[in-house]
Amino acid sequence: SDKERVVIIGSGNWQVLSTLGSAIASVAAKNVLLHHELFHPEVKMWVFEEDYEGKPLTRVINETHMNPRYLPDIPLGDNVTAEPDLGKALQGATALVFVMPHQFFRKALDGIKGKVSQNARAVSLIKGVDVHGTKIQAYATIVNEELGISCSSLSGANIATEVAEGKFSESTLGVPSPDGFEGDPDTLPDARLWKPLFDTKTFSISVVADVEGVGLCGALKNIVAVAAGFIDGLGWGSNSKAAIMRIGMNEIKDFSLEYFPTTRAETFLEQSCGIADIITSCLGGRNRKVAEAMVKEGKPFQELEESMLKGQKLQGPETALHVHEFLAARGTKRPGGYPLFDAVWRICYEGAKPESIIDKL
Ligand code: NAD
Ligand code: 13P
Repeated sequence: SDKERVVIIGSGNWQVLSTLGSAIASVAAKNVLLHHELFHPEVKMWVFEEDYEGKPLTRVINETHMNPRYLPDIPLGDNVTAEPDLGKALQGATALVFVMPHQFFRKALDGIKGKVSQNARAVSLIKGVDVHGTKIQAYATIVNEELGISCSSLSGANIATEVAEGKFSESTLGVPSPDGFEGDPDTLPDARLWKPLFDTKTFSISVVADVEGVGLCGALKNIVAVAAGFIDGLGWGSNSKAAIMRIGMNEIKDFSLEYFPTTRAETFLEQSCGIADIITSCLGGRNRKVAEAMVKEGKPFQELEESMLKGQKLQGPETALHVHEFLAARGTKRPGGYPLFDAVWRICYEGAKPESIIDKL
C-alpha cells in the first residue's frame, strides 16, 4: 500500500511520542480519523538492545507493550513493535522519527545511510547541536544533508512523563519551506505528514516554516536549564531564576540569528519551542535537577548523570561545550559575547564556582 510507514529511531524517555503515533493510527478521534488513511497501523521502534532483568529489552517491550527501562508504567500501544536491528526497523519505512540523545546520533546515522528509500521523510526530536570547528548544525539539517531526504524538527515545552500522562502540552513543528515563504505553514507538504501523526487534543502542534529555529531552541535551552539548576542549588530564589530565563532567551535568539540567518525571531519569542520550553526546563527538567545536585553535592555532572538518571542522558552540559568550541573557533559580533552560555561551560568543565555564574551577566 502507499500508506506512510512510521519508524521511531530511539527508545528513551521521549519515545512517548510512539504512544501518540500509535494512538493516531488507531484511535477514533475525529481529526485522527480524517488522516487515518495516511498511515500504516504498525509503528516500528528501533531499540538499542540491552539487558533488562535478564531479558533483551526488545522482548520485554514486545511482550508487555511497555518500556520499563526508560518509560515505566506507560502503555505504548499494541501496534508498536520494538526491533533491535536498525536495518530491519527501517525496511519499508517512509516516515522516520529521530528521537535519541544527541550523543548517539552519529553512530545511528552511520547505520542508516544507504538503507533509506528516497521517498522517505524525517523529523528530528533531538535536542542538541553538532559542531566541527567553525561549522555548527542542527540535527534536522544533518539528516537532510547526509540522507538526502527532507527533515523537519519537532520541539517544545515537553517534559516526557507529563506528555505521557496526557497532561496538556504544546509543541512546535518546524517544516521545510521555499525561500521567502510567507504563506500558511500548515499547508506545506511536510506539515501534512507530521502534524496528523503527532497532534492530539492534549499534545497541540503549531507549525512554523523554520526548521533550524525550532531545533536550535531545543538545543540551546538545555544550557539555560543547567544555569537555572545552579541557581536552585545556590538557593537564590525566583528573581534570579527569572533573570536567567530572560538572559538565556536573549542569548538563544541572538546566537541563532547571528549564525543561522534564515531563523525567525518569532520562533523564539512566540512558540512553545522558545520561551515555553525555557520555562518548563528551568522548572522541571533533568538538566535543571542534575545541575542543582552539582552545587549541593559538589560532584561533577558525569557522576550525577549516572547515579540520578540511570541511563537517561543530559544534553545541556555537552551542548555548552559544543557552543563554547564553536564560539572559540568562529568568534562573535555580539558585544560581550554569550556570557551565560560561557559561564555554564566554565562551571561544568573548568571547575569554576557556581557563584561565578553572574560575574559577566
Ligand atoms: P533518554 O535520556 O531517555 O536516553 C535513553 C536512550 O538512549 C534510550 O533510547 C537508550 O536505548 C539510548 N541509548 C543508551 N545507550 C545507547 C547507545 N550506546 N547507543 C544508542 N542508544 C543508546 O532519551 P530521551 O529522553 O528519549 O531523549 C532523546 C532526545 O529527545 C534528546 O535529545 C532529548 O533532549 C529530547 N527530548 C527529551 C524529552 C524528555 O522529557 N525526556 C523531551 C523532549 C525532548
Ligand atoms: P530535560 O532533558 O532537561 O529533562 O528537558 C526535557 C525537555 O526537553 C522538556 O521540553
